[in-house]
Amino acid sequence: MKINGMPPTTMPSLAPVAILSALPQEQRGLINLLQNPRKVCHASRDFWLGGLHGHPVVLALSRIGKVAAATTATALIERFGVGCIIFTGVAGGLGEGVKVGDVVVATDFIQHDMDASPLFPRYQVPLYGKTRFPCDPALSVLLFAASQDALSHESLAVHGFQQASVHQGLIASGDRFVCGAGEARQLRQAMASAGHDVLAVEMEGAAVAQVCSDYRLPFAVMRTISDRADDSAHVDFPAFVQAVASPYAQVIIKNFLELLLKK
Ligand code: ADE
Repeated sequence: MKINGMPPTTMPSLAPVAILSALPQEQRGLINLLQNPRKVCHASRDFWLGGLHGHPVVLALSRIGKVAAATTATALIERFGVGCIIFTGVAGGLGEGVKVGDVVVATDFIQHDMDASPLFPRYQVPLYGKTRFPCDPALSVLLFAASQDALSHESLAVHGFQQASVHQGLIASGDRFVCGAGEARQLRQAMASAGHDVLAVEMEGAAVAQVCSDYRLPFAVMRTISDRADDSAHVDFPAFVQAVASPYAQVIIKNFLELLLKK
């Protein structure tokens, strides 16, 4: 299967799979499942090494914002030699029909707060000549299948999102929690008028995408939609993370690692 017209690329080798979570609530369940868990402190962060569903893994928290996420991704690559990065987290839905409880699997990322104009075109990352950074197509296909399977699970339907869908497309990142209907509309329209149809907004993915592009490391991202980036986003967000995002991430990662084992 092709994503964004690109052929599938590499599958990770025997190097550990990095599972990067945005929030501690999401990571906690994964740590509890680790076989032979070992904690390593590095770069003022805790990294959890062990086995998960048949794979050597390293679990890490991205923390919040682009710089923190870039530091974590760099440490995963340089210090732990991971073979790929899988990122789970939550996002605000921007695209039409992207509802709370849906999942978005990223095809690529853009930084909505990148603006070095008039020196460089709006949204372009200076000196990269690039505005959008792609995810690994082959890993994204597996993550999409893993997410679809998870959403059809009885156990996740109890969270009240029986009609949840899995989307695939562009995600925008920026160092800003978007929580206003006007702001969300403006953001979406500004990006659409530059040719970028954004499905969801969050605060880390584009930074991880840029680091992985620098290191030529395959990575893929799934985000559960916790809010619509509107006036109630700050209320919806914490409740959702606790109750829903964590069980979603656990089932999706389990499905994903099982599919990866069959490759
Ligand atoms: N992550 C989850 N919801 C978000 C929002 N509304 N803005 C930015 N990041 C988010």
